[in-house]
Amino acid sequence: MASFPEIPDSGERSGFSQWINERLPVAAFWKKHLSEYYAPKNFNFWYFFGGLAILVLVNQLITGIFLTMSYKPTAAEAFASVEYIMRDVRWGWLLRYMHSTGASAFFIVIYLHMFRALLYGSHRKPRELIWIFGCLIFVLLMAEAFMGYVLPWGNMSYWGAQVIVSLFSSLPYIGQSLVEWIRGDYYIADATLNRFFALHVAALPLALVFLVVVHLAALHEVGSNNPDGIEIKKLKDAKGIPLDGIPFHPYYTVKDLVGTAGFLLIFCGIIFFAPTFGGLFLEEPNFEPANALQTPPHIAPVWYFTPYYAMLRAVPSFLGTQVWGVLVMGAAIVILFFVPWLDRSPVKSIRYRGPIFKLALAVFVVAFVMLGVCGMKPPSGIYPQLAKIGTFLYFAFFLLMPWYTRIDSVKPVPERVTGHA
Ligand code: HEM
Repeated sequence: MASFPEIPDSGERSGFSQWINERLPVAAFWKKHLSEYYAPKNFNFWYFFGGLAILVLVNQLITGIFLTMSYKPTAAEAFASVEYIMRDVRWGWLLRYMHSTGASAFFIVIYLHMFRALLYGSHRKPRELIWIFGCLIFVLLMAEAFMGYVLPWGNMSYWGAQVIVSLFSSLPYIGQSLVEWIRGDYYIADATLNRFFALHVAALPLALVFLVVVHLAALHEVGSNNPDGIEIKKLKDAKGIPLDGIPFHPYYTVKDLVGTAGFLLIFCGIIFFAPTFGGLFLEEPNFEPANALQTPPHIAPVWYFTPYYAMLRAVPSFLGTQVWGVLVMGAAIVILFFVPWLDRSPVKSIRYRGPIFKLALAVFVVAFVMLGVCGMKPPSGIYPQLAKIGTFLYFAFFLLMPWYTRIDSVKPVPERVTGHA
């Protein structure tokens, strides 16, 4: 494998830089987290997505701030203010499409990022906290996307909010009062839109940024995993530098630029040529203003929620309550937090795992996509059955994990990371 030269740092600083560094440790921070953060030298395609998630987060924050300058968070004005942004505000259409496409891009990137963790066992000891912060980010991201979707006050915004908020009413005892508390009214109304706006533009973004910072702080404490699932800190040279590590900057900053360029090509292609993405990223009923007297012909959430929505609908009401579907949907998220402890394999990476794990992961991916499709379709024909099978397979993947990861065969793990992609 090619060896990577060290980048010398003379340590010499200009007067200004020295003045700053004596007061704020910018250079020390740069060294610790970039130029002397030693990352495994075998990162591959799957390691693009964390950095891309940061890029999309920044895109959402910046375009969101500009959208907020022209958006009006009231039931009377919201829809028209979005039309105003699209037609009259200079570059408003671009800001809005960057933000709406960014929401879908966020989930694509995050689903691939989470899948990478499952591939290489990145959630395993000592990275459990990185995974848990990630799961919290995922939950907040869902809340953030849901509330953002309500803001244009289109007909799907209105009815989507109606369906999702009333789910809480199935909870025993507190259900009805809880729903009124969330809505701030007896139905989805101006008060609901106001509070969703406050949460979407201030509270949740702050919490998200905080969680991303601790996610990365936890990552830099233990160091990155890699496609071989080997702890590079176990083998160090005389200077204490991992033998299989390379400085994050410039090696991975340059590599991530390539991923960023590829991502931006696709992202811009969608913004400029297919911003609604065939009704997947922006749904047709949302181009009509909210109408409390007319439900859209088929209410479905945006694609990234549909796997969970399908699970909700897959569970029939029982003993006169629909709470079971809500609980199953909640459990589908909660179970993610436990993956680091459900996985009992003696190896981390899929490269050294046996056929059972590979099969289980493949079936899980098929089940998840199938659930996503079922959640988009009306609950008739074959879809309710497929959703039930998908829900069963989703839970089987996690609940049977302690068993099948233990009985699965494993291959010997090499001492040093390997060079292939
Ligand atoms: C705003 C959302 C997120 C951002 C900005 C983010 C950012 C990052 C970055 C930059 C890395 C290091 C580079 C990489 O591994 O690709 C990383 C690693 C990681 N992330 Fe995230 N992440 C996010 C959400 C999540 C979620 C939802 C999960 C899982 C539930 C997760 C789990 C992990 C794990 C386990 C690692 C360690 C990977 C390894 O060392 O192999 N992250 N994250």
